[in-house]
Amino acid sequence: MGIVQPGERPIFFVVMLAMILVLEGFSFFGIVEYVYGAESSDAVLTTKDCAKCHKKEFAAIRDNGVKHRSEVTCLDCHIDHPLLGEQIIPKCSQCHSGKKHYELTGCLSCHSDPHQPMEIIIKGEVTEPCLSCHPKQGEELKDYASFHSELSCNYCHDKHGYIPECFKCHEPHLEGQTLSECLGCHPAHLPLHIQYPLQTPSSHCAPCHEKQSVLMKETYTKHRVFTCAFCHRGIHTIIPECFHCHGEPHSPSIHRTMPDCITCHLDPHNLKT
Ligand code: HEC
Ligand code: HEC
Ligand code: HEC
Ligand code: HEC
Ligand code: HEC
Ligand code: HEC
Ligand code: HEC
Ligand code: HEC
Ligand code: HEC
Ligand code: HEC
Ligand code: HEC
Ligand code: HEC
Repeated sequence: MGIVQPGERPIFFVVMLAMILVLEGFSFFGIVEYVYGAESSDAVLTTKDCAKCHKKEFAAIRDNGVKHRSEVTCLDCHIDHPLLGEQIIPKCSQCHSGKKHYELTGCLSCHSDPHQPMEIIIKGEVTEPCLSCHPKQGEELKDYASFHSELSCNYCHDKHGYIPECFKCHEPHLEGQTLSECLGCHPAHLPLHIQYPLQTPSSHCAPCHEKQSVLMKETYTKHRVFTCAFCHRGIHTIIPECFHCHGEPHSPSIHRTMPDCITCHLDPHNLKT
């Protein structure tokens, strides 16, 4: 069965050698010339030669090599070839230095194939490496604590450049609310830093502030024409002062003795006296 008898080995090699000689079309003398002749030390591998044996890498660069195709050749990276020489596999830092991004470790964990360097795979929970290019988003998440600050960047951006919709993970407060409206109140990386535009309709406040919404709908006073956002301007939870709009309409003695307008007018959402 495949056991090699001691006597078989030399015969095997002789047969192999003979086959090689025939295939290559060399005479014995020819080999000597090939190995020892002047032209052999001048024989240099070119990038085209690499393709003969390394089809996969060659095709990857040709089809998808981007700047590793246009700016460098196989030989810029693979200076030596195995068996001879030491500079076989290059370090990225040989050519990429001087940016915060290039100080990361494990370049190949994301740039999974140096022959198609922009095929980027983001695995695991990744935050810090993103900050090497997007420091602003990192600061926003850090400076304004929310549940989003607890998530990794790629929990939401699971492919580079992909922007998720809020609806992938959340229900709207009321039916028909649009994505741009969500973002109008909640910036994605600081969702509890809630600021809204002046034209925000009162219906957007209603799901959470039913009492005031009902009062405002039913009141007969002149305040009824205003939206919530008209008085509660810009920033969530802000409470306006009556005098910002009204000044001090009554006699000074009334305002001195009763500085809080609500004492008589009871509720701005349903003014009474
Ligand atoms: C005649 C076929 C042939 C040609 C031409 C050739 N190689 Fe190779 N190459 C091989 C073989 C066989 C190996 C495996 C050697 C080993 O593992 O010791 C190899 C290994 C390598 C390796 C190392 C792979 C590893 O796993 O460490 C690199 C890099 C490489 N070649 C690059 C090149 C480049 C660049 C060129 C063109 C300049 C080239 N090769 C031309 C046959 C070839
Ligand atoms: C920008 C630098 C760069 C260029 C250009 C480049 N390579 Fe490589 N190559 C690498 C690196 C880095 C590795 C090691 C990858 C790894 O460890 O996974 C590698 C690995 C290889 C290997 C070994 C593959 C394996 O699976 O072990 C071969 C073969 C190879 N390259 C051939 C080529 C050929 C042929 C070309 C030109 C068509 C080329 N390379 C161009 C950087 C380069
Ligand atoms: C022999 C030099 C050399 C080596 C080694 C090298 N690169 Fe490059 N690489 C370049 C050059 C030159 C460019 C084009 C200029 C630039 O973007 O800096 C480039 C561009 C890139 C790009 C952008 C490609 C594009 O088209 O925008 C990526 C990503 C990249 N390299 C990753 C790597 C990684 C990862 C390694 C290590 C595995 C590596 N490079 C090793 C020379 C090299
Ligand atoms: C966590 C994943 C990750 C790691 C680790 C990583 N990169 Fe990148 N790299 C990226 C992403 C994402 C881009 C941006 C691609 C784009 O512009 O669309 C990029 C872009 C690049 C570029 C082209 C743009 C530029 O800034 O020059 C180069 C070159 C590069 N990386 C080299 C490296 C090197 C070298 C390492 C290791 C020191 C490395 N990368 C480690 C994800 C990574
Ligand atoms: C090497 C620098 C680099 C790294 C590292 C990097 N990015 Fe980017 N990123 C860019 C560049 C440049 C763009 C804009 C070009 C584009 O759209 O590809 C971009 C675009 C984006 C966009 C889309 C922006 C828009 O306005 O459409 C998102 C989202 C994003 N990156 C998230 C990430 C996340 C998450 C990570 C970490 C996993 C990361 N990036 C790592 C350079 C980087
Ligand atoms: C909870 C999900 C979520 C997390 C976590 C998250 N993002 Fe985003 N990111 C988004 C959404 C949604 C947008 C779109 C915002 C918009 O259109 O205004 C966005 C937009 C971006 C953009 C485009 C520019 C901008 O600021 O609008 C970049 C770059 C980006 N994110 C990077 C990051 C980085 C880096 C991290 C981690 C430090 C991160 N993101 C964490 C959801 C998230
Ligand atoms: C990939 C999933 C994902 C996406 C996309 C996402 N979020 Fe979140 N968000 C979460 C998780 C997880 C939490 C914490 C648990 C929870 O409240 O559901 C959270 C919490 C929140 C909170 C409460 C924060 C706190 O600390 O109380 C707000 C507000 C919020 N998200 C708004 C948004 C908005 C607005 C968008 C779109 C711009 C968005 N989210 C996109 C996953 C996501
Ligand atoms: C008019 C402003 C406004 C709009 C528009 C808005 N939100 Fe909110 N959202 C808030 C306020 C205010 C809170 C309560 C914050 C708090 O608890 O302090 C909140 C809370 C949340 C929370 C935390 C959990 C909860 O329900 O209390 C999530 C998640 C959320 N919003 C997602 C969204 C999404 C998704 C959209 C778009 C469909 C959206 N929001 C539109 C103002 C708004
Ligand atoms: C998703 C629910 C939600 C939405 C939508 C919402 N709020 Fe609120 N609001 C709250 C919660 C919860 C509080 C109390 C917690 C806090 O102070 O953050 C609050 C507090 C307030 C306060 C301060 C109350 C006090 O006693 O000091 C005002 C004013 C207010 N909201 C106005 C608005 C206005 C105006 C809108 C619409 C533009 C709105 N809210 C939309 C949930 C919401
Ligand atoms: C953002 C501005 C604004 C704020 C804040 C505001 N008001 Fe007014 N208020 C108005 C305007 C405008 C009118 C209508 C004036 C007119 O038509 O003459 C009005 C009308 C009134 C009226 C007359 C109602 C009627 O039907 O005749 C009273 C009383 C009043 N406000 C009291 C108050 C009190 C008390 C507060 C504080 C709790 C307050 N307002 C806060 C803008 C405001
Ligand atoms: C005319 C201006 C005005 C309008 C319009 C208005 N508010 Fe107010 N709101 C105020 C003032 C002033 C206070 C503070 C009253 C106080 O000092 O007790 C207040 C207080 C609040 C509070 C705190 C709890 C309370 O009742 O005192 C909430 C919540 C609130 N408003 C929500 C809303 C919502 C929701 C709407 C729209 C449906 C709305 N407001 C419309 C002026 C207004
Ligand atoms: C002592 C009780 C009292 C106090 C305190 C008070 N008001 Fe009045 N306010 C009244 C009465 C009574 C009227 C007249 C009601 C009417 O005409 O129907 C009135 C009327 C008004 C009107 C309508 C005036 C007009 O010309 O139509 C405004 C606006 C008003 N008050 C604002 C305020 C503001 C702002 C404060 C606090 C700075 C305040 N009031 C404090 C009792 C008070």
